[in-house]
Amino acid sequence: MRQLLISEILEECLSKASLFHDKEALSSRFYPNELPHREEQLSAIIRSLTPAIKGEGTNNLFIYGQPGTGKTAAMTLVGSKIMERAGDNVVVISINCRMGKVADTEYRLLAEISRQLGREVPATGLPTQEVYSIFFRLLEEKSKTLILILDEIDVLLDKCGDGFLYNLTRINETLSDSRVCIVGISNNLLFSDYLDPRTKSSLCEEKVLFQPYDAAQLRDILSERAAFCEGVIGQGVIEKCAALAAQEHGDARRAMNLLRAAGEIAENAGHQAVMEIHVDAAKRKLDFDCLSNAVKTQPKHGKAVIMSLISLKEKGVDKIQTGDLYSTYQRVCKQLSLEHLTPRRVYGITGELEMQGLMTTKVVNKGRYGRTRHIELSVNDETLGTIKGALSEYC
Ligand SMILES: Nc1ncnc2c1ncn2[C@@H]1O[C@H](COP(=O)(O)OP(=O)(O)O)[C@@H](O)[C@H]1O
Ligand SMILES: [Mg+2]
Repeated sequence: MRQLLISEILEECLSKASLFHDKEALSSRFYPNELPHREEQLSAIIRSLTPAIKGEGTNNLFIYGQPGTGKTAAMTLVGSKIMERAGDNVVVISINCRMGKVADTEYRLLAEISRQLGREVPATGLPTQEVYSIFFRLLEEKSKTLILILDEIDVLLDKCGDGFLYNLTRINETLSDSRVCIVGISNNLLFSDYLDPRTKSSLCEEKVLFQPYDAAQLRDILSERAAFCEGVIGQGVIEKCAALAAQEHGDARRAMNLLRAAGEIAENAGHQAVMEIHVDAAKRKLDFDCLSNAVKTQPKHGKAVIMSLISLKEKGVDKIQTGDLYSTYQRVCKQLSLEHLTPRRVYGITGELEMQGLMTTKVVNKGRYGRTRHIELSVNDETLGTIKGALSEYC
């Protein structure tokens, strides 16, 4: 690109008046000091953790609810207030278990907690038992209460198994001068059912549920966080973002993403106000990004199954029988020089694709011929184009 042209574009962008006065406030990484419609949950968490401030025994706590219902925001807020109030008696450590290299293994997680408690532990090399001992010694030396927040704890269970959580939740039995209180946070409502009953009863001594927000609640949240310049938000815009997010699963993150994207679209188009049409465009953009991302991040065989479904759909087969899917999948694997998986694994993959909204399956009753499963690629032509675009890098 010509130097002059670059400068011209840069000047043009810099001179454009922004519709936002504080865009960061609409970012999902920003945690506000006020959480409307979460008074009940905030007070339940505070009540449960207050004994820690007084140096008394504290129950472990389990916080659960759909994504975007304010769990991390609430716990971050309470954690910082407790630290302020308790001074040296309590230390709050928060770990997001989805973060690679920090909570991939029992070893890494213990090393990270020890690091946050002030002692560096080598990233690998020591026996796990030794890292446990370092962790115990650190706790006893400090003789404090440690509130250990394990956010997205369901990911930890997948990576490290149940035994580790059991050890953590029972840790107070081996400590004499200090205490640990585990706060597990999960987006998966069924998480505690996957735990060994002993771990479950210990982790879930107290439970706090974060219900999905309804449209009116999301409207209030958006109104507080909408960081646009005076008079920029058109009529019905906040209501529309709130209604769309409420229809999904009452997700505040989704509502804010819609509003922010609508603002960006309006701004890039040089419009002076954010209107409902910008929200429609924002929804299309976010859906597109989400779908392409879901396809792009599929493992190889997931992609091969999607390609098989597309191939059958393009041949005019709308209701796909599982047997046809499998034979097409075998052919696709051959083209891609992939070793094909067993039918059972492939049907497992179709279940995962269904959960991600990429396809639907229906059980069809065929009268005296029994029942069969029909698979459909649940997409319109536009979405099909997106999926093919996302796959094109792979083929
Ligand atoms: N009641 C609320 N008021 C203001 N912002 C909220 C509220 N609930 C959630 N949010 C915001 O929505 C986004 C998602 O919330 P988060 O706590 O990360 O959800 P979860 O951990 O349940 O997935 C964050 O930016 C958070 O600050
Ligand atoms: Mg969270």
